[in-house]
Amino acid sequence: MPLRPEHLARCLAWSSLQTPREHSPIDVVTMGAALFKGNDEKAQWARKGMAAVCAYFGYKLLRYMLWRRNINNMIPGPNTEWESIKELYKADFGDFWGFNSTLLTNLHNKYGKVVKLWLAGQPYISFVDCNDIETVNRKAIGRPSLTEMLLPFMGHKNLLFQPTHLDGGAFVKSIRLKYAIMVQDSHSLSDVHRVVFETMTERTPHWGTGAPIDVFEELKHLMYDIMGKVIFSGAWSTDENGATIIQTHRFLIEGSASLGLSVCNKFTMANLLKMPSDYSTYQAAIKKLQGIMWNMIEQRRKEVQENPKKWEGDKSCLTVLVREKDEQGKLYFDKDLAIASGVGLLNGAYDTTHITTVWLMYNLARHPEVQKKVVAEIDSLGKPDLKNLPTYEKLRELKYLDAAIRESIRLRMTVPLGMRGNYREDVKVGNVIVPKGTTILPFTQGAHTNPKFAPEYFGDDVDKFRPERFMGDSPEASKARAAFHGFGGGFRMCIGFKFAEAELKAIFVYFLQRYTIELPDPNAPSPEMLYESGCNAPKEHFSLTFKPRA
Ligand code: HEM
Repeated sequence: MPLRPEHLARCLAWSSLQTPREHSPIDVVTMGAALFKGNDEKAQWARKGMAAVCAYFGYKLLRYMLWRRNINNMIPGPNTEWESIKELYKADFGDFWGFNSTLLTNLHNKYGKVVKLWLAGQPYISFVDCNDIETVNRKAIGRPSLTEMLLPFMGHKNLLFQPTHLDGGAFVKSIRLKYAIMVQDSHSLSDVHRVVFETMTERTPHWGTGAPIDVFEELKHLMYDIMGKVIFSGAWSTDENGATIIQTHRFLIEGSASLGLSVCNKFTMANLLKMPSDYSTYQAAIKKLQGIMWNMIEQRRKEVQENPKKWEGDKSCLTVLVREKDEQGKLYFDKDLAIASGVGLLNGAYDTTHITTVWLMYNLARHPEVQKKVVAEIDSLGKPDLKNLPTYEKLRELKYLDAAIRESIRLRMTVPLGMRGNYREDVKVGNVIVPKGTTILPFTQGAHTNPKFAPEYFGDDVDKFRPERFMGDSPEASKARAAFHGFGGGFRMCIGFKFAEAELKAIFVYFLQRYTIELPDPNAPSPEMLYESGCNAPKEHFSLTFKPRA
């Protein structure tokens, strides 16, 4: 019989008679308790069921408590969430919710090389010894879900967030191979020299006028353009889309580090009420950036379809995203993976190289004796210009510049702490068994600079800017080179390592051939660092002067 409206009306009328209109929580508890009373079959089953549920959860809880006690016995550090939160608070809640280098420095100084803390029932274990970090990088190849919470704008399918415990990392490996086509190919490595020289020639002549240059601000657009041209085949600051990308991406970088923190800095009703609107503005910016990225990908798809010959040998990101196939011959990058890859490469390639360039310029200005040695080495290349560009191989020969780049990253860690997880099995790191499912923090900034832990690998003068520590064949230099983890290590090591090296070397060859970099005020205090979107940016902008060389 078909269901008619009058049947439905009758049903509703009947159920309204059966069910009291309102149940207070006390009613619900009384009714539930009544179910267990008496000796009828229903009550007996209810009691048995409840006993089974209690036994199950009791067992789970007991196992959890034993597991927790075991970790607390094995690894020093705060034993409870409350003690951990007090440490976050001490490290400054207003600076990335206290989850920063100060937190880990405090904990390692207090408890030693391995330290744990508890957040929401989960252990976080930090390592500050270079050998331990090497083991973590090799053995713990997963990334915790916290990474995605901290960088949601990269897209759910971003390489950083892909699980590795289901397939042993096979999917991550295959994505990394696709990215290698885009950023490790000899074509992109040579192209980056040309683009650096062209961009700097065109856009930085005013740097040599003697006026102080706010290097962080000025390099911002230049770095976006260099990356845009080489990886995405388009200059961004001169293009309408690009300008929006730059603005939105910067907003998201800064927003990821500060979202919701105004309340911690100043607890006022206005700041509290602002939180939902800040959140929706942040979400709208994510949508905007990802939308532009998708339009760019679709535009390239159209161009490739219309004129396949033109794009035949092209290995830039957008072309690879629309052309790569899997083993079955189907498109490798679906919409979400393509967007997450585009945004991921944009983020990975921009922020890191921008910040590293700024800190190296600062360090060379602060240490003229090192700058002189870098210049002497660069001068040995002759006078490269746009018609006579140094090859990638030639730039690789600049060993002292290479050491200066490492030393600058060591002292002002671009990425001060890593995020790894062991989701397949327990792993042994040094003397510690890290239980399966732990969030592991390789604290590279501490490992490279903390006077308690770093001298074993880098010598006693770890606070000094001394590139020589990485030079030559001495056992000390080999040890220092092996202990350097500025680009991570193992299976998940930075995919853009060679690209960054090529870009940084080209930038410094260009500038140091022409200028001596100086501090406008040599007595000014050293600039502080701010942990922002995973990188150590300068807390305040500073200026440098570029004096034309005689
Ligand atoms: C000075 C510049 C750079 C520094 C210091 C740096 C540092 C790092 C670090 C520390 C990691 C984590 C590695 C790990 O967990 O072991 C990483 C990952 C990554 N980097 Fe870089 N990076 C730089 C430049 C670049 C560039 C230019 C690109 C792209 C062209 C890039 C793309 C990536 C990607 C895609 C990952 C994720 C790899 C994965 O999860 O498997 N990076 N980078």
